[in-house]
Formats: sequence, C-alpha cells, structure tokens
Amino acid sequence: MHEIPYNAHINFDSGVIDDAQVTERRLSDMAAFYHDQEAVQRLLDDDPVLYRVYYIAQEAGSPSLWNTGVSVIEPGRVGDEYIMTKGHYHLNPEAPEVYLTLSGTGRLVLQTRQGEAKVLAMTPGAMNYIPGEWAHRTVNVGDEPLVFFAVWPSDAGYDYDTIAERGFARLVIAGDDGPQLIDNPAFIPES
Ligand code: F6R
Ligand code: ZN
Repeated sequence: MHEIPYNAHINFDSGVIDDAQVTERRLSDMAAFYHDQEAVQRLLDDDPVLYRVYYIAQEAGSPSLWNTGVSVIEPGRVGDEYIMTKGHYHLNPEAPEVYLTLSGTGRLVLQTRQGEAKVLAMTPGAMNYIPGEWAHRTVNVGDEPLVFFAVWPSDAGYDYDTIAERGFARLVIAGDDGPQLIDNPAFIPES
C-alpha cells in the first residue's frame, strides 16, 4: 500500500484538526449508554452534542497504517454520570492504541472480556497505553472539555455492540467529594 506523508495541525485548546473528518455524538446517539434514563429523557429535547472526534483515517487493512485523531468530550453530566464516550473493544484484539491528553481532566475506563478492569487518570501530558484486548471509554470529570490525541492501527475496527449490550463493569459518577468509581449494577460479564 502506498502511504502519503502528511502534516496536520491540532489546536491544543479546541482539539480541532484542520481539514480532518469529524464524527459528532449527540445524547440521542447514545441514550442507552447512560444508567439514569429519567435524566436522559429530561435532556433529550435539547439533544446536546456530547463529544466530537476529529480524525485522519488511512485505508483500513494493514496494521502498519495508523489512524490519528483528537477527541473532545464536553463537560457536564447525565444524572450523576459524567459525559463520556460510548467505549469499544477493537475488533482486532492485536490492535493497541495510545492516548495523549492535551487538556482537561478525565478518566480512562478499561476492561477485558475476561473481567479485568482498570481506571487510569487523564490530565494534560498523561500518555495512556491501551493494549489491543482492552475495551476503552473516556469520561470527562472536569469543568472544561477533555481533549486527547489518539493513534491506532487502521485495521483495529470497532466493537460497540458488546458495550451497548453489557456495559462497563465500573462507572464513574459524581460523588459528594468529586468523581467516584462504582460497580455498574447493570453490567453483564462475558464469562
Ligand atoms: C479510536 C479511539 C478513539 C475513540 C473516540 C470516541 O480507536 O479509541 O478515537 O473512537 O474517543 O470514542 P468511541 O469511539 O468509543 O465513541
Ligand atoms: Zn479505540
């Protein structure tokens, strides 16, 4: 495959990559991912944009081609749950990913199909390595947008269905003293 060198510019504050493709997720795109359905219904009239991903994708198919992107997660909550991404496994369990936080404060929620779970901090400068077999979701626990750069192989693919059907084992919610990690009562383990 013929690769073409490129030069792209990321605005570190807004997260916008000039001339990149954009995916926008609104509350209506992911209502079922939040555990407080009454809170979802209250917010659905406005149907706010919860996050955007600016990305430059290579043609899928070869692990030596990498996609790059910047995610911008808005601050706020749906009930007691912070605004977060859907989260996914890579369809290819050999496709890892690296995140570099540019601004904001977040949590990276990780889990394997075997039931291991981890939560890592995201603050400016944090570099998070996500092995191929780990599902990953980012949660904005701060008052400003959470902005992070990501690089991943173009043959990674996305498994959103497993998370949609079973959820993550751990949830990050707003507690009295700030972000709090709880077990997800609705989680359905795979094994
Ligand atoms: C790519 C990746 C990120 C996410 C983005 C949005 O493999 O992990 O670019 O795609 O942060 O999250 P999802 O895709 O879970 O909606
Ligand atoms: Zn990913």
